[in-house]
Amino acid sequence: MSEVDLTVHLTPDDIVRGLRSDARTGLTATPKSLPPKWFYDARGSELFERITRLPEYYPTRAEREILAARSAEIASVTDATTLVELGSGSSEKTRLLLNALRHHGSLREIVTLDVSESALRDAAAVLGAAYDPVSVHGVVGDFTQHLALLPGSPGRLVAFLGGTIGNLVPAERAKFLSGVRDVLDEGEWLLLGTDLVKDPSVLVQAYDDAAGVTAEFNRNVLHVLNRELSADFDPAAFDHVALWDHEEEWIEMRLRATRPMEVHVPVVGLTVSFVEGEEMRTEVSAKFRDERVTAELADAGFDLKHWWTDGESRFGVSLSQAVPR
Ligand code: SAH
Ligand code: AVI
Repeated sequence: MSEVDLTVHLTPDDIVRGLRSDARTGLTATPKSLPPKWFYDARGSELFERITRLPEYYPTRAEREILAARSAEIASVTDATTLVELGSGSSEKTRLLLNALRHHGSLREIVTLDVSESALRDAAAVLGAAYDPVSVHGVVGDFTQHLALLPGSPGRLVAFLGGTIGNLVPAERAKFLSGVRDVLDEGEWLLLGTDLVKDPSVLVQAYDDAAGVTAEFNRNVLHVLNRELSADFDPAAFDHVALWDHEEEWIEMRLRATRPMEVHVPVVGLTVSFVEGEEMRTEVSAKFRDERVTAELADAGFDLKHWWTDGESRFGVSLSQAVPR
């Protein structure tokens, strides 16, 4: 078992403070909205893992197919000694990369960062056991706030998988990619997973599965508000909505009030009214075209060197190198 250490940049107090601020802003806005990072308490992380196994949710399988086919090439092109994974969750697909880097002989260090402490602890323990004697650093943190505090020696490959970049709106994406570029030295690497624009019916089904797991994942944010802020949302009184926005080219998840409601959020001193049918945005999941990926990476100081898709062109993985800006 290699050495596994855990750094916590988000204590339970920080989490409540952040949630209070986002609830105050999002629940008093018109229309109401909440940021997607609050889905991921222990239950939310488990629900996400169930989503990845649903027949309708193709992104995980498509990205895994690409990583299975390309990891050896990624290892040889990057020669990376340190794999830094952001929004790592279970790090399950990442093992394809780690196996290739180990086989290539360069892997020395693994850094994983996630807001979900439970997911991070479980994954770091599994990685520590599997990649001995490589050192494993788990960081409980927010990739929109804590990039500058990341451990890891040069020779880095940053992996941001799953299409999680699509959960950021364009201005947040630009800030995030520049932030990643800022912590890298010239010549270091970014491996980015992006879900691609496709038939809207395929997309909508992926976010509105027949078994209702995504609906439960969506409502989980209300359970988080109830537990952390003593709110009194009735999650069963909200319908799950997933729709395709043609203009923005993103899937939007919403929660729709099925009746008029007054919800109390005492920790922030709010009473929030919902009219029947009112919708609150809980997530965007942007879908990309390859030109857009190349352009957004270039704006942040990355040169896209490789672009791979799965056999059905559903998902794209890009490998880019940090260049002078
Ligand atoms: N990379 C994994 C997990 C994707 S799910 C995969 O490809 O399957 C998205 C992950 O990002 C979750 O584990 C969630 O906890 C984490 N996450 C979401 N917002 C985050 C943020 N702002 N900072 C850090 N982690 C975040
Ligand atoms: C983590 N992220 C890329 C997922 C997505 O597809 O946008 C989260 C998710 N939301 C609903 N289903 C899965």
